Amino acid sequence: MDAENFEPVGVPVQYEPDDFMRFIRQRRSHRHFKSKAVPKKIIQQLIEAARYAPTGSNVQSVEIIVVEDAHRKRILSDLSVDFFAEAGAKAAEQLRTMPVESRTPARLQLEKMVRYRNNMLQAKSVGYDPIFHQAPVVLMFHSPLETTTPKDNCVIASTTVGLFARTLGLESTYIGLLEIAARSYPPLAEAIGLPTGHQVQSVLITGYPKLKFLRHVDRNPIKVRWD
Ligand SMILES: Cc1cc2nc3c(=O)[nH]c(=O)nc-3n(C[C@H](O)[C@H](O)[C@H](O)COP(=O)(O)O)c2cc1C
Repeated sequence: MDAENFEPVGVPVQYEPDDFMRFIRQRRSHRHFKSKAVPKKIIQQLIEAARYAPTGSNVQSVEIIVVEDAHRKRILSDLSVDFFAEAGAKAAEQLRTMPVESRTPARLQLEKMVRYRNNMLQAKSVGYDPIFHQAPVVLMFHSPLETTTPKDNCVIASTTVGLFARTLGLESTYIGLLEIAARSYPPLAEAIGLPTGHQVQSVLITGYPKLKFLRHVDRNPIKVRWD
């Protein structure tokens, strides 16, 4: 790194803990967005936030693909749905030969794949995009797999971006479905066009939210062992 770029830290930013906790709790997954585009300058600010997220051994391996073009989003979403449609059909086939009474994790997983398939095909039949939820911007965080912590690096970067985005009036949702499909379905991986050896590790959709949440959600207490 160039020593010239090590700017003085300046006055430390101090948040009220209660305010910051409310900021964390006010982060919710948004899947309804205004049709307003996100200015390029704002997207660049999001990318800048990712730049300062930590990475294992400071490898700085995270790269981002920004998708705004409606046609590109459509291609990636359609291929993801194709993957879940195929996987769901195979799961339904496997379930037919399984004893109904066995509530094993394997069976539950197959049932989930069938549910994904049915929900996605139903959403698509009414013109709804079940992968990107009509969001104006998709951010795909990818990294070479050969770094020690590719997933952690990308997830920490996307989490940092998702929180920072809120300061700019944007809201987001993680899209694990795209990540699963990209990992498992070569036609989708090819359409994304990753550099050799890279894998998508975290995906965010973002945009200006159409709806406001009025209540915080409750959550189960974290199980803790004070060791
Ligand atoms: C790793 C991860 C993957 C997710 N994948 C999806 C997804 O593919 N599609 C979606 O609509 N929401 C997805 N979500 C959003 C979760 O459903 C959501 O975070 C959860 O229901 C809690 O709600 P909240 O984010 O509003 O607090 C994902 C969240 C996480 C953390």
